[in-house]
Amino acid sequence: MNPNLIIFDTTLRDGEQSPGASMTREEKVRIGKQLERLKVDVIEAGFPAASPGDFESVRAVATTVRDSTVCGLARAQESDIRKVAEAIASAASGRIHTFIATSPIHMEKKLRMTPDQVMETATRAVKLARSFTDDVEFSCEDAVRSDPDFLCRIIETVIQAGARTINIPDTVGYAIPYQYGALIESLIQRIPNAHKAVFSVHCHNDLGLAVSNSLAAVLAGARQVECTINGLGERAGNAALEEIVMALKTRRDVFSVDTRIDTAQIVPASRLVSTITGFPVQPNKAIVGANAFAHESGIHQDGVLKHRETYEIMRAEDVGWNASKLVLGKHSGRSAFRARLSELGIELESEAHLNAAFQRFKELADKKHDIFDEDLHALVSEEVTEPHKEKYSLLSLTAYSETGEIPHAYLVLSCEGHEMESEAQGSGPVDAAFKAVERLVFSGSELLLYSVNNITSGTESQGEVTVRLSRNGRIVNGLGADTDIVVASVKAYLNALNKLGAGTERMNPQM
Ligand code: KIV
Ligand code: ZN
Repeated sequence: MNPNLIIFDTTLRDGEQSPGASMTREEKVRIGKQLERLKVDVIEAGFPAASPGDFESVRAVATTVRDSTVCGLARAQESDIRKVAEAIASAASGRIHTFIATSPIHMEKKLRMTPDQVMETATRAVKLARSFTDDVEFSCEDAVRSDPDFLCRIIETVIQAGARTINIPDTVGYAIPYQYGALIESLIQRIPNAHKAVFSVHCHNDLGLAVSNSLAAVLAGARQVECTINGLGERAGNAALEEIVMALKTRRDVFSVDTRIDTAQIVPASRLVSTITGFPVQPNKAIVGANAFAHESGIHQDGVLKHRETYEIMRAEDVGWNASKLVLGKHSGRSAFRARLSELGIELESEAHLNAAFQRFKELADKKHDIFDEDLHALVSEEVTEPHKEKYSLLSLTAYSETGEIPHAYLVLSCEGHEMESEAQGSGPVDAAFKAVERLVFSGSELLLYSVNNITSGTESQGEVTVRLSRNGRIVNGLGADTDIVVASVKAYLNALNKLGAGTERMNPQM
């Protein structure tokens, strides 16, 4: 096999632009390592100009990941480009991705620039980026609503200036597959120096067509697809990596392209991104949804048992299902724990962190017989937030619920190092516990989402809770895991409150 289609993952950049999906540096490094295991060719690690935290995250991913190219996004501005160059300097292979809008509506209303000014700015940006690295990508933001003649002119010019990848984004998710395919084909045919660049696509899912549009573009000659795990991304998201990769692999007869992706790492990547961002995966989601390979109806089950290909076009194990490993139990020692974390690519900052995580693992193993990789990821997610350094943490909780009685919760929190207690009634124990928290913290936030999933299967599993809060236009996701879902819920609520308090403002590159 000679991989000839580049998979560019932008979970850590465009995915992070989904409200509430922002990730810490440690979280980005963990996802970055999983993307490397998945063998994506390019990891877009962030937008370094957004904030000092984003800069550090891109730098940390660039330093850690060795087997994928690490890319940073820059507007077509000198300061953005210099920041990316610095952030990716330690990468084994680094890319600068610069962009500017090319559609009339964006040029006039957002940039307030003429097409000639846009062309000049783009050319200058690409030349500057090329002074740092040979690997420069240029994107025509809102390409689908741009004038094709202008696209031809600007693309020819930026290729002359040194861009090696040309990305044609459907920024607003407006394209229809046959038109998008035709656009890509005509650009490749009309631009005289098109052979000097790889044509790339980047599709948003506003009409639910991101994957279809990306595949139409591959048929038309695109050789890089930008996508995200679970289709995370701005608004309705981006094209889902897992769907693109499995469509190309399952229908190789149609597409005739190969990728480097290790498909057995798809489900672990999906789980990790969902755990870290707090965006659950819908059960009927293709490839990575819990029901994607479940055969409910009797006829289908009968067919699958007689001959699996009657109803299955892919094998669950090929995308990493059923790979949940029973890893550790109550009697596992510290070195087995450390070894499994390292196999998962999780490195805790210090011996003290490892000891604290091991202690929490022992507590979990007392409650739950078998510990799986997913449990370890959840446990470590809590450890890296360093509960002892957070403004709020849970010390104890008692929740009462009895048929015919009003549910009631009593809890003790550590609030900036002080022990404080509170109680409240509610419509259920979780509602009562959240009200008890609010009596202490008066956060003034609005609860946008509350969701519970089990991390592994069975009632013995830990419940993983996501709480999404908003305050003054800022949205954060909090996560908590525990075998007791009321405890998991309070942990998630406090995690969200801590993020609301700690947050720094980030800039969206496309505003
Ligand atoms: O959707 C878009 O146009 C983008 C660009 C910055 C590539 O995300
Ligand atoms: Zn985008």
